[in-house]
Amino acid sequence: MKKILVTGGCGYIGSHTIVDLIQNGFNVISADDNSRSRPNILDGVEKITGKKVKNYTVDLCNFDDTHAVFVENPDIDGIIHFAAYKAVGESVEKPLLYFENNMNSLINILKCAVEFNVNNFVFSSSCTVYGNPVSIPVTEDTPTQQAESPYGYTKQMGEQIVQQTVNSNQIQSILLRYFNPVGAHPSNQIGEIPIGRPANLVPAITQTAIGKLPQMSVHGDDYPTRDGSCLRDYIHVSDIAHAHTLALNYLLDKKNKSNCEIFNLGSGNGYTVLEAIKTFEKVSNQKLNYVIGPRRPGDITAIYANNEKARKVLGWETKYDLEDMMRTAWEWELRLNKEENLFNGQNPSLN
Ligand code: WQD
Repeated sequence: MKKILVTGGCGYIGSHTIVDLIQNGFNVISADDNSRSRPNILDGVEKITGKKVKNYTVDLCNFDDTHAVFVENPDIDGIIHFAAYKAVGESVEKPLLYFENNMNSLINILKCAVEFNVNNFVFSSSCTVYGNPVSIPVTEDTPTQQAESPYGYTKQMGEQIVQQTVNSNQIQSILLRYFNPVGAHPSNQIGEIPIGRPANLVPAITQTAIGKLPQMSVHGDDYPTRDGSCLRDYIHVSDIAHAHTLALNYLLDKKNKSNCEIFNLGSGNGYTVLEAIKTFEKVSNQKLNYVIGPRRPGDITAIYANNEKARKVLGWETKYDLEDMMRTAWEWELRLNKEENLFNGQNPSLN
């Protein structure tokens, strides 16, 4: 059974990916300092898979602590690197925090991968590297643009660090560019746990609907789109998760054509903010309390993926549509609300 190290394994996409990896026969360990996540999300993973996943609570910016994980696990066959800060707005306020955390952790993990000959590496990237794309839908060959935030720069630089590193050793890598991951595992055992007031659309919708937020604002309806609100490619987090399993098997089976391949992970469909809200209202049977507010600085008008490469090369097929995304997100919010201490007691700083 191949052993995979998932960094950021207690996070939103990390925990969903661990579920998919286990269900596809992998042995998984996690490394997550829980500064932005809650360790007991792995209890939910265990409920789904029956497997207890060990998390190494290490700061990946500390090389010695990171190295110790590899000393204890010399049989790691692959790494999926999720661990990073990802709040766009926070990155604008605290750029050095983002450059320090997201780059140092990546460099330490890569140094260990080289030292311990872990030659299969999947990097969590983002459609944000396309900036305001020159044309849509974007393919993997669409030129990257000036990043819209320090967070976006850390993803662009991260991709370059991986690409340059693999050129000088045996590591084979894949960069996965996520569009907008939303929703929750259909079992309702794991999901997104936003820290503080959610910046992202779907948690803002569900928290408004459940009453955690009094009202939400649609950031602008004067864009050149079919209804004036921004257009994005929402993709279910479980579909994103399965793509990681396919990417790892692609590397482990040595099917990759180069030492660094890139794949867009989007549904291939673009929906506007107002369409997303209408879909939520339909599946939840809740009228959402929102107002049309001013544009949000840094937002791009529209982006969605051409996902043909992932479908053809990895054999990836998305299973969930926008209604599923909204329904699972809502069911998760209802559960969080019902069991309010479900994840609250673990890390007061996250409350
Ligand atoms: C989507 C749309 C908002 C909240 C970012 C990162 C990207 C990825 C996903 C990590 C926009 C609008 C939102 C609200 C709103 N993160 N909105 N009211 O900005 O497309 O992407 O998160 O990988 O890298 O850039 O996602 O969910 O923040 O916004 O109107 O209360 O919803 O203006 O048009 P975004 P988002």
